[in-house]
Amino acid sequence: MSAFIVLGAQWGDEGKGKMTDYLAEEADVVVRFQGGNNAGHTVEVGDRQYKLHLIPSGILYDNKLNVIGNGVVVDPKALFEEIGYLEKEGVKVTPEKLIISDRAHLIMPYHRVLDILKEKARGKNDIGTTGKGIGPCYTDKFERCGIRVCDLLHEDVFEEKLRENIKMKNEYITKVLGGEALDAEEILVQYKQYAEKIGPFVKDTSVKVYDSIKEDKTVLFEGAQGMLLDIDHGTYPYVTSSNTTAGGVSNGIGVGPNMITNAVGITKAYTTRVGKGPFPTELENETGEWIRTKGHEYGVTTGRSRRCGWLDLVIVKSAVRVSGLTSLAVTKIDTLAGLDKLKVCVGYKFNGEIIDYFPASLEDLAKCEPVYEEFDGWDDSVADARSYDEIPENAKKYLERISEFTGTRISIVSVGPKRDQTMRVGEL
Ligand code: GDP
Ligand code: IMO
Ligand code: MG
Repeated sequence: MSAFIVLGAQWGDEGKGKMTDYLAEEADVVVRFQGGNNAGHTVEVGDRQYKLHLIPSGILYDNKLNVIGNGVVVDPKALFEEIGYLEKEGVKVTPEKLIISDRAHLIMPYHRVLDILKEKARGKNDIGTTGKGIGPCYTDKFERCGIRVCDLLHEDVFEEKLRENIKMKNEYITKVLGGEALDAEEILVQYKQYAEKIGPFVKDTSVKVYDSIKEDKTVLFEGAQGMLLDIDHGTYPYVTSSNTTAGGVSNGIGVGPNMITNAVGITKAYTTRVGKGPFPTELENETGEWIRTKGHEYGVTTGRSRRCGWLDLVIVKSAVRVSGLTSLAVTKIDTLAGLDKLKVCVGYKFNGEIIDYFPASLEDLAKCEPVYEEFDGWDDSVADARSYDEIPENAKKYLERISEFTGTRISIVSVGPKRDQTMRVGEL
């Protein structure tokens, strides 16, 4: 029995797509358990680059089962656009390769509208969401007025739920947010078409994943977003609306936590963040710009510039604690090549003390001053390394400090975007 998780250990975009693709080689089933098409996962295979949002990264293989679990919020419009994109790229997406939970909640057109209008209404306090309707969809789920994939397959139920929702949503959209009312008839027609297309993909995914683990198949859970975007453990309210940490897996698919053997925290060798919110080690200077340019740090989903800063090990250590990470996969050490000196944050000075955890209050966090250790840099030859021995000595020292500070072994080192620029250096 083997089931392991790939999770972001920072603010997302750590290289989860690449790592899922790399590790999927040894998996039979690849599962998304939370989030939606707010994610943007890049995978490079040979000279081709794929960008995935909602569909698990295992889809690029012919022989893996990909699962969208109940914890994911599914926008059918985005789903079929992504399927269309993949098929154009020559990747087949059939019900033999992809199954979608009947319990997953649907992102409706009003969720997308609400996401954008609410952000506008927040003014300077906006979160900087992706505008995909993620927050409003999860809100409805918890308010118990959401519409699920299984409802889509029952025309009458769907129509009744839609009409109930649209009445209230249109009131709110027009009277409170100053937007335009949505047309229920148009949505009914559109979603009827989606219902026909989605039907063959719909399954009880909890049963399928449970059986797969019991049958000794290897199951890989592909996280979206990252530790500090978690609704409970992140920099609230500048977070996404799901549990991005290991706790989200069990609920997001419907298997017991004891069935999961390992959790790999994907850790970028520096830190990035898209959208608003605190970022203690942010570099709003030439070095930050240098990293952004060299690392191509622009969002896959929204195209926004990613904010860049030094590696913050306080964050990574929090991820180890919250998700019980068994190992770390460190990515993009090649991006840092060429810097003479590098800094790594190993604590925060807070009220005259040094702490190594992330305070809950953003006001307290604003008072935290990063405590740095300095490291000597390495050169671009790191991108050619194919075994741990070939990694430049200074980069090894950097990696060893990450492992020592977090008390966690490093399982994988990535030195470029391609599959073959990846080294397995330890147990997952
Ligand atoms: P995800 O959301 O965690 O899957 O990450 P993204 O795909 O949003 O962003 C990570 C970017 O870094 C992608 O463009 C990857 O192709 C790229 N990448 C992943 N690992 C490495 C690496 O080790 N070196 C370099 N240079 N790029 C990498
Ligand atoms: P991957 O899986 C980076 C951020 C948004 C915003 C906040 C809330 O590619 O790592 P949302 O639309 O989810 O309500 O936005 O979360 N965000 C991400 N940042 N990578 C992601 O996904 C993200 N998904 C959401 O920028 O700050
Ligand atoms: Mg991404």
